[in-house]
Amino acid sequence: MTFAKIVATGGYLPKKILTNRDLESMVDTTDEWIVERTGIHQRHIISDDETTSSMALAASQQALKNADLNATDLDLIIVATITPDKVMPCAACVLQNQLGARQVMAFDLGAACAGFVYALATAQQFIETGRYRTVLVVGAEAMSTILDWNDRSTCVLFGDGAGAAILTASDKPGIRNCHLYADGGLGNVLTVNSCLPGYHDSSKNPYVEMAGREVFKFAVNSLGDLAKETLNVAGLQPSDIDWLIPHQANIRIIQAVAKKINCPLDKVIITVDHHGNTSSASIPLALHEGISSGKVKPGQNLLLEAFGGGIAWGSALITL
Ligand code: ACO
Repeated sequence: MTFAKIVATGGYLPKKILTNRDLESMVDTTDEWIVERTGIHQRHIISDDETTSSMALAASQQALKNADLNATDLDLIIVATITPDKVMPCAACVLQNQLGARQVMAFDLGAACAGFVYALATAQQFIETGRYRTVLVVGAEAMSTILDWNDRSTCVLFGDGAGAAILTASDKPGIRNCHLYADGGLGNVLTVNSCLPGYHDSSKNPYVEMAGREVFKFAVNSLGDLAKETLNVAGLQPSDIDWLIPHQANIRIIQAVAKKINCPLDKVIITVDHHGNTSSASIPLALHEGISSGKVKPGQNLLLEAFGGGIAWGSALITL
């Protein structure tokens, strides 16, 4: 059987750092409130000459270099994002051109914070069926462009960045099982109205709107169940997982889910404290940081899980 294996990762974070102290001078908030409720201390924010595509490009070039591959080796490019530079062309086509890749299939995938896991599962299908051998999967977000910087309930939570992974066909297990869900009936708990017909209607808020408590409860319950389902299907125990790499939205959600599956916190990759919530970029950035720091090693079992607008949620069990 042919498996889809992650062979390299890359990451990019804008140089500009926005601390909680900086936010204190922008909205009615405090460092203490943000740290206690979310675990976030700082986040990276793009400068005027950066975009989702420019961050995706930097992360992808690093991943290609780490894989010792050229852009022309790619058979498919998927960019998970809800903040493409433009509605059209999509970020994946911009990236394909800037990388100098061949005229291969390239598309954006919009599943908000679950986007990278959705994209991995999509890439896995194309590789396992033998259709493609080498796939670039990117999660990239300029969340700062869709935030209301006067709304303290949302602007303190998010950051910008990009993470990339190169997947290749392998005879050794890589992505083992993915479980993806969506419930459009809950769509109103997390919304952004920009980029839609009617966007210029001043009665519509073009920025992130969130029912924080509802999202919080949903995330803890759904991710706990999802982790158990993913392990059951693979016939694994929580102790078989070397690293839990969750979506980085809130340290309290991460802690609650880890507790539900008896995963000690020293087996969880945590970046929310210095990245904030970078939506689709959060898991690939955490994965890249784990690998770059030497914590996450080849042959280890990783459990990735995420939730976000849609509501969409999903998991991926991976042997690196
Ligand atoms: N600073 C100070 N006070 C604040 C701030 C702030 N930045 N934001 C809200 N408050 C106030 C509220 O106004 C409220 O005041 P009140 O009691 O006088 O009415 C009080 O703090 C408590 O507000 P809650 O919203 O109830 O606080 P909560 O403990 O639920 O924490 C939070 C809010 C952090 C948003 C939490 O609900 C959460 O993390 N939810 C999940 C969010 C999430 O995961 N989003 C990302 C998923 S989507 C995606 O990733 C794209």
